[in-house]
Amino acid sequence: MKPSAEVFNEIVEARRSVRVYDAEADFDHEAVKRSIERAILAPNSSNMQLWEFYRIKTPAMLEKMVPICMGQNAARTAREMVVFVARPDLWRQRQRALVAEMKNVYGDRTDKQAKRAFHYYKSLIPKYYFNDPFRVWGFMKKVLFFFIGLKRPMVRHGNGTDVRISVHKSAALAAQTFMLSMKAEGYDTCPMEGMDSIRIKRLLKLPLKAEVVMVIGCGPASEKGIYSDRFRIPNEEVIFSL
Ligand SMILES: Cc1cc2nc3c(=O)[nH]c(=O)nc-3n(C[C@H](O)[C@H](O)[C@H](O)COP(=O)(O)O)c2cc1C
Repeated sequence: MKPSAEVFNEIVEARRSVRVYDAEADFDHEAVKRSIERAILAPNSSNMQLWEFYRIKTPAMLEKMVPICMGQNAARTAREMVVFVARPDLWRQRQRALVAEMKNVYGDRTDKQAKRAFHYYKSLIPKYYFNDPFRVWGFMKKVLFFFIGLKRPMVRHGNGTDVRISVHKSAALAAQTFMLSMKAEGYDTCPMEGMDSIRIKRLLKLPLKAEVVMVIGCGPASEKGIYSDRFRIPNEEVIFSL
């Protein structure tokens, strides 16, 4: 194993969901900043980056988050929380930014690679992300993909739910990158789905179409922070080689 893999393995093995944090130990909030900046480097669908990260740092805001996170210890004792938010509604802005980026990268090039990149972001992306209020377009795409799929391999995702799942997948990859980075920084985290997403959106003044992916409590672990030994289903039940 390469030394880098050994270090990575150590971080992965050491990361646990920690539910109680030490109120007295030092906590460097800059580690959270660095970890979010690393999370932003996570792979994400079509590089659309339909995510936002809200740092909850002030005592007043942390206090407001506790009942919204159902009074969980991981929220009650967190030194900082980060709310991972999916923003499928920002697809137009991101698409424009990516078309501008393609112009930077390819300039006036008209070769196959350049044409493919422009076609992808100018034509295919809007067709994928757009949806009308009655969801007719999404339904039509699903039907079309079904019939094309009878003859050849075809992507199947195309309606509003598929888009939401895709955006959540990318944000979850950022969340995992964030948690591993925090562990590498010497701190612990707990992802929380047990929260009132409507109240969080209200607190953060998020628009209707924004979606809370998860809240991550952060801090230095207390001795009682880990509730039980790690349990995983045996590898042979979940890993298959074909
Ligand atoms: C999407 C997601 C939501 C979770 N929500 C909660 C939660 O609300 N409260 C909690 O204590 N742990 C929560 N967890 C942590 C899991 O319970 C934990 O990851 C799992 O038991 C495995 O333990 P480990 O992270 O220590 O390996 C969540 C984890 C994920 C990935």
